[in-house]
Amino acid sequence: MLDLGSGGGIDVLLSARRVGPTGKAYGLDMTDEMLALADENKRKAGLENVEFLKGEIENIPLPDNSVDVVISNCVINLSADKDQVLREAFRVLKPGGRFAVSDVVTRGEVSPEIRKSVLLWVGCVAGALEDVEYTNKLIAAGFGEIEIEPTRVYQAEDAREILSAEGIDVDAIAPQVEGKFMSAFVRATKPKTGF
Ligand SMILES: C[S@@+](CC[C@H](N)C(=O)[O-])C[C@H]1O[C@@H](n2cnc3c(N)ncnc32)[C@H](O)[C@@H]1O
Repeated sequence: MLDLGSGGGIDVLLSARRVGPTGKAYGLDMTDEMLALADENKRKAGLENVEFLKGEIENIPLPDNSVDVVISNCVINLSADKDQVLREAFRVLKPGGRFAVSDVVTRGEVSPEIRKSVLLWVGCVAGALEDVEYTNKLIAAGFGEIEIEPTRVYQAEDAREILSAEGIDVDAIAPQVEGKFMSAFVRATKPKTGF
């Protein structure tokens, strides 16, 4: 498996236990400090089947058709070229391989100011995609069996403090927020046929 933007490497270490000694878990990150922390965490965990790679998720340093699962938490949103990230994830997956990432996505129409304030609050996000856009990008990259499953839907009330601090009347904009921002699990599969 491969974790895009593995940070301190916790998800990679958990996955390494899951894939067992015959499997391999890769973490990819572009930041030296994060790679150093991840290597330190690997050493503490005493796991051998783990490798942290330095590089960008837009240009994954692994061969075509080389991994069974691509995971990622809170990273793809940060990329300025999400199409390229999804194409790269598709390229490195084996046919039949699974893409299973968590990210923040939006649903329906949201004004640019509200989008900016709420996404700042939700964290991790400046560039969150709308669910339909995410699906279209996955299709364009070649993926099938696409599912976007909300894991937490944010309410205006949850963001009252940050929105009020920005001078926004929370009660007035609540209808523009309700049900439109969510953390979601995005799943897709690289078709076995390669199409
Ligand atoms: C919000 S953290 C998430 C870390 C980890 N996935 C987690 O859940 O704790 C984002 C991580 O992605 C890395 N990152 C951001 N953009 C990247 C890119 N284009 N290529 C590689 N790594 C990237 C950062 O260095 C950072 O470690």
